[in-house]
Amino acid sequence: ADPDPLQDFCVANLQATDITVDGFPCKPTSSVVSDDFFFSGLSAPGNTNNMFGSNVTQGNVASFPGLNTLGLSMNRVDLVPGGINPLHSHPRSTELGLVIQGEVLVGFVSTANAFYSKTLKAGENFVIPRGLVHFQYNVGTGNAVVITAFNSQLPGVVLAPFTLFGSTPAIPNDVLTKTFQVDQNVINLLKSKFSGSS
Ligand code: GLV
Ligand code: MN
Repeated sequence: ADPDPLQDFCVANLQATDITVDGFPCKPTSSVVSDDFFFSGLSAPGNTNNMFGSNVTQGNVASFPGLNTLGLSMNRVDLVPGGINPLHSHPRSTELGLVIQGEVLVGFVSTANAFYSKTLKAGENFVIPRGLVHFQYNVGTGNAVVITAFNSQLPGVVLAPFTLFGSTPAIPNDVLTKTFQVDQNVINLLKSKFSGSS
């Protein structure tokens, strides 16, 4: 989904503050090193000790500067038994996933509100069309690991619970009670769970 590159590479200068572009400005080629094109951040499990029992380690341009302008990136999702990577979407990317370990229910909802889902085992793939709301849920008895690839250097993540109930400042309760057709208590309960941190 990202635009095509205009040169071999443009290793991101993540520190540049004097230039603002769509993406990141390039480091001078004279200071580009091999390590700019290699990344070991997905080699270890992430910390799943949180309310969802999951962790997404992101290998996007922010952590892997060699990806700048190349239009792709990769994540690692770790899930404890019963853990969920909660409902979310990526505004700038389709997602191609591969289950590495465990048994994972993967699903997404189309713009016609059709729900598509399947339980996958190690070695099996899924695809989430760009922008659609999706999740991964560990339905097995052991830990699960999923690798996801994106056709964007920075896919973006819209996490449904934090977007709706944890924004800063908060979405007014009237908007949420009218949107979901419930009373204030329900909204306040949801806000209490998701406001403050993500
Ligand atoms: C999984 O859905 C991911 O966004 O890495
Ligand atoms: Mn995703």
